[in-house]
Amino acid sequence: MEVRVISTTPFDDQKPGTSGLRKKVATFQQPHYLENFVQAIFDTQTALTGGTLVLGGDGRFYNRTAIQIILRMAAANGVARVLVGQGGILSTPAASCIIRKYQTQGGIILSASHNPGGPDEDFGIKFNIDAGGPAPESVTNALYARTQRIDRYRIVDADPIDLDQIGESRLGELVVQVIDAVADYADLMASLFDFDAIRQLFNAGRFRMRFDAMHAVTGPYAVEILEHRLGAESGTVINGVPLEDFGGGHPDPNLVHAHALVELTSGAQGLDFGAASDGDGDRNMVLGRDFFVTPSDSLAVLAANAPLTPGYKNGISGIARSMPTSQAADRVAEALGVECFETPTGWKFFGNLLDAGRITLCGEESFGTGSDHVREKDGLWAVLFWLNLLAVKRQSVADIVRAHWRRFGRNYYTRHDYEGIDSAAAEGLVNHLHILLPSLPGQQLGDFKVAFADDFAYTDPIDGSVAAHQGIRIGFENGARIVLRLSGTGTQGATLRLYIEQYEADSARHDRPVQEALAPLILIARELAQIEARTGRTQPDVIT
Ligand code: G1P
Ligand code: ZN
Repeated sequence: MEVRVISTTPFDDQKPGTSGLRKKVATFQQPHYLENFVQAIFDTQTALTGGTLVLGGDGRFYNRTAIQIILRMAAANGVARVLVGQGGILSTPAASCIIRKYQTQGGIILSASHNPGGPDEDFGIKFNIDAGGPAPESVTNALYARTQRIDRYRIVDADPIDLDQIGESRLGELVVQVIDAVADYADLMASLFDFDAIRQLFNAGRFRMRFDAMHAVTGPYAVEILEHRLGAESGTVINGVPLEDFGGGHPDPNLVHAHALVELTSGAQGLDFGAASDGDGDRNMVLGRDFFVTPSDSLAVLAANAPLTPGYKNGISGIARSMPTSQAADRVAEALGVECFETPTGWKFFGNLLDAGRITLCGEESFGTGSDHVREKDGLWAVLFWLNLLAVKRQSVADIVRAHWRRFGRNYYTRHDYEGIDSAAAEGLVNHLHILLPSLPGQQLGDFKVAFADDFAYTDPIDGSVAAHQGIRIGFENGARIVLRLSGTGTQGATLRLYIEQYEADSARHDRPVQEALAPLILIARELAQIEARTGRTQPDVIT
């Protein structure tokens, strides 16, 4: 099979963000755009030559086209074998699972996560390393550098591979193996959680739940695990068929975009348990009846109860949370006497800690929770963890969380997103805060006295690498915090994220509405950052 070497010129916008390269579909459809990025992966990840690559995506528009292009390029670049998920589907955590299980040299995941899909929406690509996790910055920087100098790529001419039939075929020397996208992942889940106990919970007949797959990638995984292996009634998984445009929805499991599920769990007739996952299956939202579990609390609750599950019965070695995530998990780590780490936003920063065995659980406020079982956050894993706890504890979601607050105190927490704001205005706002930072410590702002104010920098305890400019932290003497940062995943304008946290030890004050409890601090943050004056926005677009 003849390898064609195609001349190309660099695109200047191929720097991977928080989680890979994300752009509008039309950007990826430009001649050579995808090819340049993929060739940069093959040029820099030399172990793929003669090695095995995992390939799959969240099923969004352009997924299948991109997979065919990548297969033809893999053949031209001397990759020995590619494991492709059937139908081109692999959830992000399943891809991580397969990279690890079959000890491959890495994987390419096609996804823009929770961003909408369709011809006018978003597409994305990211490379995961042989440990199964997102490429660390050393790799993404090398990749980006390569994209800036690229002058040719390699590809073979071939008919499309049938992605729907499980089995092997060849593209020249390359073996393309279409694999069951679900089985390996489902087996891993069965090894971690008490499937018998969960099966009994479903069999007893009183427990009612729905899992909203949001027409994204987790549908087939959830149907297999919840309905087939665990015996939940058919129809437990809703919106379970992956669609190229996610049914026109926004596959982001939060109170705004998964509001239909919120309604199903509301009121006296509400479900006992509601859960949802995002476009590529790594995020999760957990709801009880009339009760929303803040992702930061979810991490803390899972950590405190881990020994109730078979996979974590010996306890956990440590916990890590991203910097904007609430400090609820820190309190659990302290009580357990295990280490706790504060890392920059993005799952890639957990990889070294997981590899070194320093942490078992980790999470982000952005609906991401996970453990050392893979190297990605894992939506269904979190849902199964909760189901395991519900099955063992025989308590409602709300009761489990309230009991947790009584023991550890409550970290009231919210995130406000200002989306699609003018990029220059967003930069101006951040610069203004940078200038303000040194003068803040010691200042009294309303009822709050500033203890520290900085631009978060992280030194990786394993390899010593430094990540600077990871967001502005303003900490108060009572443990409350204001955090501000700009999103690294958006594809249009800038998104400002404002995170607010306040600790409440007194259990008589644990049932206040979150926005009300945090109102004074929110006001302080808005004024300090001059949000309205600089962005023209009086209200955030999304509150979680
Ligand atoms: C967002 C989340 C972050 C998460 C990332 C990928 O990134 O805030 O926690 O790791 O998506 O899912 P951001 O847009 O804030 O850069
Ligand atoms: Zn995702």
